[in-house]
Amino acid sequence: MSRVLVLNGPNLGRLGSREPDVYGAQDLTALRVLLEAKAADGTEIDLRQTDDEAEMIRWMHEAVDTATPVIVNPAAFTHYSYALSDAAKLVTTAGIPLVEVHISNPHARERFRHTSVISSVATGVIAGFGFDSYVLALRAIQGS
Ligand code: DQA
Repeated sequence: MSRVLVLNGPNLGRLGSREPDVYGAQDLTALRVLLEAKAADGTEIDLRQTDDEAEMIRWMHEAVDTATPVIVNPAAFTHYSYALSDAAKLVTTAGIPLVEVHISNPHARERFRHTSVISSVATGVIAGFGFDSYVLALRAIQGS
C-alpha cells in the first residue's frame, strides 16, 4: 500500500461554509472522497488539516522520514511561513515530490496572496481549479 499525504493549512477545516463564492460549497470530507476515487489502486489518501504551523511542520518531517509524497495547500502559511518553506525544502531535497495546491488562483486576488514562500521549494504548483487542483496534483504524483 502506498500513501499520499494531503495536507491542508489554516481555515481549510471551514471549507463548505467559508467564502463559498471563492472556495466552493464542498468540505474536506468531499475532497477526501473525490481523491480516494481518483487514487490508483492500493494508494491510501492520508488527508489532514491543521490550523497549527508547528503541526504542519511536523507532518513535513514525517513525510521525509517515511518517504511519502505530499500534496499541500498551505493556505495563508503560503504567503509568509519561512519555517514551513524550510520544512517543505527538506521534503523535496530528499527527492520526495511535494506539490503546492490552491483552490483559488491567489494571483488573481489581493496583493498579499501573490507571494508564495513555498513555490520555490515545491516540485510544482497547481492553483485555480477548485478541488481539481488536488486531483491534478495527484495525477502528477502518480504519473497518470
Ligand atoms: C488558498 C489561498 C490562500 O491565499 C488562502 O489564504 C487560503 C486558501 C486556496 O486554496 O486558494 O486559505 O490556499
